[in-house]
Amino acid sequence: MDDLKSKYLRLIASAADEAAIEDVRVNALGKKGEISLLMRSLGTMSPEERQTAGPALNALKDEINSALAARKAALGDLALDERLRSEWLDVTLPGRNRPQGTIHPISQVTAEVTAIFADMGFAVAEGPQVESDWYNFDALNMPSHHSARAEMDTFYMHRKEGDNRPPHVLRTHTSPVQIRSMQAQGAPIRVICPGRVYRADYDQTHTPMFHQVEGLAIDKGISMANLKWVLEEFVKAYFEVDQVDLRFRASHFPFTEPSAEVDIRCSWEGGTLRVGTGDSWLEILGSGMVHPKVLQNAGVDPALWQGFAFGMGIDRIAMLKYGIPDLRAFFDSDLRWLRHYGFAALDVPTLDGGLSR
Ligand code: PHE
Repeated sequence: MDDLKSKYLRLIASAADEAAIEDVRVNALGKKGEISLLMRSLGTMSPEERQTAGPALNALKDEINSALAARKAALGDLALDERLRSEWLDVTLPGRNRPQGTIHPISQVTAEVTAIFADMGFAVAEGPQVESDWYNFDALNMPSHHSARAEMDTFYMHRKEGDNRPPHVLRTHTSPVQIRSMQAQGAPIRVICPGRVYRADYDQTHTPMFHQVEGLAIDKGISMANLKWVLEEFVKAYFEVDQVDLRFRASHFPFTEPSAEVDIRCSWEGGTLRVGTGDSWLEILGSGMVHPKVLQNAGVDPALWQGFAFGMGIDRIAMLKYGIPDLRAFFDSDLRWLRHYGFAALDVPTLDGGLSR
């Protein structure tokens, strides 16, 4: 019996799965199992033999049964452990990877500006960055002898030797899109035209490439009062405040009459640029009533229609809103700067959902 016991306990201990355990059970305790046969032989024993063999066989049977059950449970635990290991899931991880990269402040501000003017009924128009001198200058009432051309620090494109046509230019402002939009659509019209412009200029608030957004509203009975209201509404919505100090300064542009430049109150204390307080003013836009000659050049009858236009520096208002003191850093592609000043890729600015959150 001791031999039987150690044999079966060894077999049970090395059984690798449920089928092997079942084999051992059948061999020991099945109908024709070794221990079952011995128990059946009890009947042939003398009562004295039976008295010792009976309880011993029962004890052996119990021991084998509980060893089988224990092994079965152990195998079950192992299988469960294995499953837990292979199917382990960290439910505290974020559901998706965060998007890499950020939205550049210029893109963010362009989207904010677009959302605000869209709410006031302005559509978005675009034009080429390499522009003919007619669209960039002549059509805007700046003929070739005009001094304003020289003041613009224009980048000229190259012409082949012997080609005497006036060279194309990198547009110095978004105003040529006024002409293109009126030619395409006529009047009435309400558009903004955001985009890149170029001038040979470089310091803390000037880069040779920068961004403007042009505004144009042509209709019947439009005056400077409409211009002023639209700009004030824009500035309040953009800076997300109830009150912003604007300064309208009489000015001159060949393509508007009368003309005004608009400054916004700000301070530069401690290296940070702050809007709304302080004794400094930063020019953010030029504006005025569209000159009759400009309307005429774009095929709109100035006897019937009039309206206002403005050209605003997107980079300037981005600096002001987000406290970025040096414009040149916008275009350095420094990843540390981009991570710091960039915007979350999925937060699209809307008037109801929030412009900058
Ligand atoms: N185009 C002018 C500039 O770049 C701005 C402007 C636009 C002024 C429209 C008046 C009207 O400085």
